[in-house]
Amino acid sequence: MKDLIWGKVLSVEIDEIDEDHRKLIDIFNILNHALADGESQEYLKAVIDELINCTSWHFSHEERLMLKYGYTDIEQHKEIHRELVQAAKELQDKILMADNTISEDDLMFLERWLTGHILTDDMKLGEYLSQVM
Ligand SMILES: [Fe+2]
Repeated sequence: MKDLIWGKVLSVEIDEIDEDHRKLIDIFNILNHALADGESQEYLKAVIDELINCTSWHFSHEERLMLKYGYTDIEQHKEIHRELVQAAKELQDKILMADNTISEDDLMFLERWLTGHILTDDMKLGEYLSQVM
């Protein structure tokens, strides 16, 4: 599948959040390439670990900003973060249990997992933060 390209459409207009999102997209693309290049299960696992760890760290970053700037939807947004991390871990387990590697469907799921949240919940957060930061 094609690489994800970070563009204006994905910007939430808050530089420090955009930077995190770019990094996550970079890791997603590393995973995409690893799959295309037939890298080992061990390597794929390492890339997914990196993606999940980086995402967890990024969510903590957003949650700190929400607290600092009094975002009223914080609990709802945190719940969505918990669900997203859970979904990624389940996918990782599924991939590691199966002998085959990551499928196109898995990658598409991860693409939606990543961009869907940025385009909806994070846009709302960005709009709010733009007004108060
Ligand atoms: Fe978020």
